[in-house]
Amino acid sequence: MILSCRHIYKTYIQGKLEVPVLKDVNFSMDKGEYVAIMGPSGSGKSTLMNLIGCLDKPTSGELILDGKDVSKLSDNALADLRLEKIGFVFQNFQLLPYMTALENVELPLTYAGIPKKKRRELAKAALERVGLGERLDFKPNQLSGGQKQRTAIARAIANHPKIILADEPTGALDSKSGRQVMDLFEELNHSGSTILMITHDAQIGARAQRRVEIRDGILYLPGQEKEAEQKLREEESRAAMQEGGEPSDEG
Ligand SMILES: Nc1ncnc2c1ncn2[C@@H]1O[C@H](COP(=O)(O)OP(=O)(O)OP(=O)(O)O)[C@@H](O)[C@H]1O
Ligand SMILES: [Mg+2]
Repeated sequence: MILSCRHIYKTYIQGKLEVPVLKDVNFSMDKGEYVAIMGPSGSGKSTLMNLIGCLDKPTSGELILDGKDVSKLSDNALADLRLEKIGFVFQNFQLLPYMTALENVELPLTYAGIPKKKRRELAKAALERVGLGERLDFKPNQLSGGQKQRTAIARAIANHPKIILADEPTGALDSKSGRQVMDLFEELNHSGSTILMITHDAQIGARAQRRVEIRDGILYLPGQEKEAEQKLREEESRAAMQEGGEPSDEG
C-alpha cells in the first residue's frame, strides 16, 4: 500500500469560526493504481490532495504515505518528503515564465539537492518521455497549453515520485490537448506510475481504474450514497453537539 488515510478530519479556522471541510475520510491506494477523486466544487477535493501531497496537515487522523505517518512530521520534514516522493500537476501548470522548459523541470530537482549533471539528465529524460525532447529551450509562452501541461507532467515525474497528484490537469485545456494529456497519464500508469487525479468531469474520471466521490467533505465509493448521507447526518449532529452544548428540554 502506498497511501492510507484513516479518519482524516480537516477543519479550517477562520477568525472565531471553525470550517469543517473533511469529515472522517478513509481512503487508501495500492502501488500502481490510478484513481480519480470526483466531486462538486467546494466539496474538499483540493483540501484532501493538499494533505496527501504534504502541503498541509490534517486536523486529526492518520495519513500514511509510503510507510511513513506524515500527519505528525515537522514542516521541514514534510517539505523533504514532498520533494522526494510526490509529483504535482496543477490545472494552471504553475510553470515559471522566465525559465525554459528544461529549467522548469530541473527546479524541484535542485531543491531536492540533486547535483547539476544528474538533474539535467533526469530533466531531459522526463521531457523526452512526454514528447517534448525538441522543446527543451522553449519558455512557457512559446508552448501551447497542452505542451505546457506536458512540461508540468515532466516536472512531476522527473524525480520518479512514489505518487503523482493531479488537480484538474485538463481543466485549462481544449478537448484535443486534454485527451492527449489523459493519454499520457494512462501511459505513465501502464508503465507503473501511481496516479491520483482530481476531476469533476465524469468522462475524465471514467478513464481511471477506480473512482471515489467526495461530497460535503465526506468520501465514499460510488453506489454508497446512502451510507454517505447517513454519515453526513452523524457528522452534523456531532458538530451541533460540540457547538450547542446541552440539548434543550423544551417542547
Ligand atoms: N485555507 C482555507 N481556509 C478556510 N477555508 C478553506 C481554505 N481552503 C479551502 N477552504 C474551504 O474548504 C472547502 C473545500 O475547498 P476545496 O478547495 O478543497 O474544494 P474543491 O473540491 O477542490 O473545489 P473546486 O472543484 O472548486 O476546486 C471550501 O468550502 C473552501 O471555502
Ligand atoms: Mg479544487
